Amino acid sequence: MAVEITADMVIHDVVSKYPQTVKVFQGHGLPCTACQVGARESVAGGARTHRLALEQLLNDLNRVANGQEAEGIKPAVKAPVGRGIPLNVMSQGGSGTGIRNIVAIMSGKGGVGKSLVTGLIAIALQRQGLKVGILDGDITGPSIAKEFGVRGVPTKSEGGIDALRSVGGIKIVSMNMFLPDATDPVVWRGPMISSAIKQFYSDVDWGKLDFLLVDLPPGTSDEAMTVMQSLPVDGVVIVSSPQMLATEIVVKCIKMVQTMKGKVIGLVENMAYLTMPDGSRNEIFGPSNGAELVAMTGAPLLTQLAIDPEIAMLCDAGKLEDYNSDEFDTLASNFTKSLKLAAARA
Ligand SMILES: Nc1ncnc2c1ncn2[C@@H]1O[C@H](COP(=O)(O)OP(=O)(O)O)[C@@H](O)[C@H]1O
Ligand SMILES: [Mg+2]
Repeated sequence: MAVEITADMVIHDVVSKYPQTVKVFQGHGLPCTACQVGARESVAGGARTHRLALEQLLNDLNRVANGQEAEGIKPAVKAPVGRGIPLNVMSQGGSGTGIRNIVAIMSGKGGVGKSLVTGLIAIALQRQGLKVGILDGDITGPSIAKEFGVRGVPTKSEGGIDALRSVGGIKIVSMNMFLPDATDPVVWRGPMISSAIKQFYSDVDWGKLDFLLVDLPPGTSDEAMTVMQSLPVDGVVIVSSPQMLATEIVVKCIKMVQTMKGKVIGLVENMAYLTMPDGSRNEIFGPSNGAELVAMTGAPLLTQLAIDPEIAMLCDAGKLEDYNSDEFDTLASNFTKSLKLAAARA
C-alpha cells in the first residue's frame, strides 16, 4: 500500500518514520529536523510558520516517501554568513586562520541564560571531540570563568596571551582573570570595552580551534556591535525566555543581527517551564514563543531548557561540565544538525 503523509501529521513523526523526507523538509527551507518546534508541530503548522505552499510540500513528502523524486524543491540559497564563507565544521580544511567557526551567543537582556547556553554549547562540542574556546565578551559582567570554575591569571608567551583551560580542556578568556580582585568593577566607557573584546580575539593565542564561542553582554549596543563588526562571526545563537517576545527585546536583537548581515543559526528558549513534583510542566513565564521566533528568523529552535535547580547549583559551584540532561542532549544534537543545514545551504 502506498505511504500517505497528511497535513495533520507531526513533523518529527514523519521524519522518524520516513527518514528520507528530511531532505524534503530541508529542500523546502524548513530547518524542522534540527528544531524542537517540529516535535509537536504538524506538517500544516510548519508550512504555515514558514509561509510555504502546503500542497507542494505534501506532494514532495509523499513522492519521496514512496520512492520517487521530489518536484518542488528550490535550488539551495547561499546563506549570508559573516565572513562570506560557509560554516565549515562538517567539511575538511580551515578558513586560513586557526579558528574555523565563530559563533556569538546573544540575547536582548541579562539574566536570560546567555552565559549558561554558551557554556552548554561549548561543553557539547568539546564532548564531541572538537577543539573549543570561549571568549567572554561580557567585559563588565563576566561569568564564564565562574561557571567553569576557572581561576588564575593568563600568562603571556611567544604566540600571545595563553587562555586558561577548563577541566575538560575548553580554552577560556574572561575579563575577571585580569582583575586584581574578581569583585572589582570594570568602570570603562564603550571604546575601552570594545578594545578589550578586540584584544581578547587578536592577542590571545587561541591556537587551532573548531569553534570560538563569544558570550555577549545583554543588549544591542557597543559590545554586541564590536563583535558583529570586528570579528568574523559565522553565526549567532539567540537566547530567549517565554516572556521576552512580549517585551519586544528579542525582536530588537534579531533585527540587529539581520541589520548587521549576521546569520541566526539557532534559538534557545531558556526557563521555558518548571517540572512539578507530579511530572507536569508549569510554564511559569507563559507559553512558549518558539514557533514565533522560528517564523521570524527561519532558524531552528534548538531546545527548550527548563528551570533546573541543578543548573543554578552547578554554575555557582563552577562545575557546569558535570551537567547532563535530556534537554542538554537535544541542544547538542540540534546544534550540530543546524550547522550541517547551514553548511548545506551555503
Ligand atoms: N534554566 C535555568 N535553570 C536554573 N538556573 C538558571 C537557568 N538558566 C540560567 N540560570 C541561572 O540564572 C543566572 C543567569 O544566567 P546567565 O547565563 O548568567 O544569564 P545571562 O548571561 O543571560 O546574563 C545564573 O546564575 C544561572 O545559573
Ligand atoms: Mg552573561
